[in-house]
Amino acid sequence: MARLQPALPFLLLLLLIAGAAAGRAGGVRTLIFILAGQSNMSGRGGATSGVWDGVVPPECAPSPRILRLSPALRWEEAHEPLHADIDVGNVLGVGPGMPFAHAVLAAGKGAGATVGLVPCAQGGTPLANWTRGTELYERMVTRARAAMAGCNGGGELAAILWYQGETDAMKREDAELYQGRMEALVRDVRRDLGRPDLLVIQVGIATAQYNGKFLGRVREAQKAVTATVPNVKYVDAMGLPIASDKTHLTTEAQVQLGNMLAKSYLETL
Ligand SMILES: *[C@@H]1O[C@H](CO)[C@@H](O)[C@H](O)[C@H]1NC(C)=O
Ligand SMILES: *[C@@H]1O[C@H](CO)[C@@H](O)[C@H](O)[C@H]1NC(C)=O
Repeated sequence: MARLQPALPFLLLLLLIAGAAAGRAGGVRTLIFILAGQSNMSGRGGATSGVWDGVVPPECAPSPRILRLSPALRWEEAHEPLHADIDVGNVLGVGPGMPFAHAVLAAGKGAGATVGLVPCAQGGTPLANWTRGTELYERMVTRARAAMAGCNGGGELAAILWYQGETDAMKREDAELYQGRMEALVRDVRRDLGRPDLLVIQVGIATAQYNGKFLGRVREAQKAVTATVPNVKYVDAMGLPIASDKTHLTTEAQVQLGNMLAKSYLETL
């Protein structure tokens, strides 16, 4: 037995090297993006009349270089609706994730890279549903960790894309607490993921749900966070076309938003 002992560290080293090589086979890296927030992040494009129309524009088409982390925490080829079995209890359609991934790949920055999308959004949720310790927060952190682990060392957590706040624009208290809650969320998630500098790109909400009176207040809070917390960016959804339900972005608007988010991300490189 004693004679075998020196071999153990060597074997471990070999396993580590093999693991790292598998993760970067042919120089392939996976750029991982967490998608979180409420319905507009999840996507309702083409799905505002009770069923999804199934229309997938080329900007949202599947690609072998775009993966999604499944509800069972496994990487699989991504396709619309990206939040299937994640944003439960809602009719799902097209969101910004797929066009975002296509635009990042088209920019050719990570040559040979794959984009790994980690859908985590849940429709109708106020920011209070996302504070540390809540179900949605813990699900997001668990999924982010699983996403990294599933890349065998070849994954890079690139950013959190956050589109949320419409529900908070309905109540004065939620709107007033938005800035502090958002700052805490960014701080907590960065700490829990061991990435103090992790990029967060927020979408500035354009109109509020049910004519929420405090839209301006939430938008101010979102902008303020970009000043108080480093590495938080802001992309404005104001002016994007809204579907006839007056509540959700159209498929076309989601394609535009995906491109805007990609532009914002690429500017940070
Ligand atoms: C959001 O929070 C409310 C109030 O605590 C809770 O009843 C609800 O289940 C939460 N929703 C989700 C999706 O976590
Ligand atoms: C979706 O986004 C649009 C544009 O910002 C906004 O008007 C609408 O209120 C949002 N819907 C929900 C349910 O958050």
